[in-house]
Amino acid sequence: MVERCDIVLKPNLMEAKNRTKQEVLVKTNEYIIKEDLKKLGLGKKYYVKTYGCQMNEHDTENIKAILEDMSFKETENYEDADFILLNTCAIRENVHNKVFGMIGRIKHLKEKKPHIIAGICGCMAQEEVVVNKILEKYKWLDIVFGTHNIHNLPNILSRSLEKKELEIEVLSIEGNVIENLPAKRDSKYKAWINIMYGCDKFCTYCIVPYTRGKQRSRKPEFIIEEIQQLISENYKEVTLLGQNVNAYGKDLDIDYTMANLLEEVAKTGIERVRFVTSHPWDFSDEMIEVIKNNKNIMPYIHLPLQSGSDRILKLMGRRYTKQTYLELYKKIKTALPYSSITTDIIVGFPGETEEDFNETLDVVKECKYDSAFTFIFSPRVGTPAANMDDNVSLEKKNNRLHKLNELVNSYAKEANDKYLGKIVPVLIEGISEKDKNKLVGYTDTMKLVNVIGDVSNVGKIVDVEITEAKTWSLDGKIK
Ligand code: 5AD
Ligand code: SF4
Repeated sequence: MVERCDIVLKPNLMEAKNRTKQEVLVKTNEYIIKEDLKKLGLGKKYYVKTYGCQMNEHDTENIKAILEDMSFKETENYEDADFILLNTCAIRENVHNKVFGMIGRIKHLKEKKPHIIAGICGCMAQEEVVVNKILEKYKWLDIVFGTHNIHNLPNILSRSLEKKELEIEVLSIEGNVIENLPAKRDSKYKAWINIMYGCDKFCTYCIVPYTRGKQRSRKPEFIIEEIQQLISENYKEVTLLGQNVNAYGKDLDIDYTMANLLEEVAKTGIERVRFVTSHPWDFSDEMIEVIKNNKNIMPYIHLPLQSGSDRILKLMGRRYTKQTYLELYKKIKTALPYSSITTDIIVGFPGETEEDFNETLDVVKECKYDSAFTFIFSPRVGTPAANMDDNVSLEKKNNRLHKLNELVNSYAKEANDKYLGKIVPVLIEGISEKDKNKLVGYTDTMKLVNVIGDVSNVGKIVDVEITEAKTWSLDGKIK
């Protein structure tokens, strides 16, 4: 058999774990597309499927723009595409399974249409176990590239086409900041803005610090410039993105914090500012003050709890206790009583007892979250928690998840019921996919609303009267 593979760089977990004092380079010229590659995709269509978090969604926006710089055109149907790319997520095993399921479907398609080029990128590409599996069983794939290699996509693609072999280019580095990537944004009204990359928290269950490198904040001037540009294009909302946005600025050589950034972003005058995700450890009083004093910073905070048991929080390496979390929660709710607060919770962490789980339920009962993302612990190869004794049976994990979801849903409905009859501001994003007669949008507090109203309101922030409250969404009509 022909050796169909060119490994330029393979991921390395030990290297990905490294954290040194090495300077982060801000590269404003890293994405360069050679003249002859600008026509590579002429007459060809691409399809990119995104798994995982908002960070990945925004990476996909960059990838799409790069492909269009190469003259590819987008298709929504993978069966029509000449180039299929899966931008993957490594956070839990279930996404792995979905990705490999999709790879299976692509294989069938490629058997019928051998000219198709297929590849994977994103966080799974950063995992040694995944790349080894691809080398063992999926060598028919054409490209694999990592989260630090996006700017080099034109070269990776052209090398694979030229040599007709699998190109693997996955850097396992602490990472730099690349400032000149183009973006093809999904929405004309709201935009994702990376404010930082990577994470240094190393929560024991989490793969992100390995797949995304060390914490690197973008310089404030680049962020503000990007937002000003978006305002000039009539954007209404920006969401500042990072794995742990409250730690923004700590790695910069200037004295500048997330509170400073939020204030400066608010001053640009953009109508809505959001930010995700917050780690309770870094949530400062100054931030709460800034949110309170600036009407265009939305009263919505995602505050991951993960567990309500101090013993489990310690094993998770979360750096707070049930008590300090609750104190922070109350501080936020007192300063911002109208705000909605959501959370993330993991059940079935190694060693979690019924008592530990009940402590989580206690916190949920106290906080009465607007909603929560709940997960069963998923061991990630290379993380400390994957080596802990996972002694909770799957049946128990499922029962706990079910019990937690019932509680979470009852509070979600309760929180939504409070909106009945109220008039709230909603950014109308478009026409509902489920019901073409309705519009959809989000309130300032991030509640999804199905709205009766004229299509001319798309892209506007309008007053909506809430007529019905459900667990996951609200119904309303434009006033
Ligand atoms: N298993 C289950 N859930 C996880 N998360 C992160 N890593 C894991 C894991 N190994 C959850 C956390 C995090 C959210 C994005 O995903 O709750 O906040
Ligand atoms: Fe993962 Fe913890 Fe970093 Fe969040 S803060 S990305 S959970 S390591």
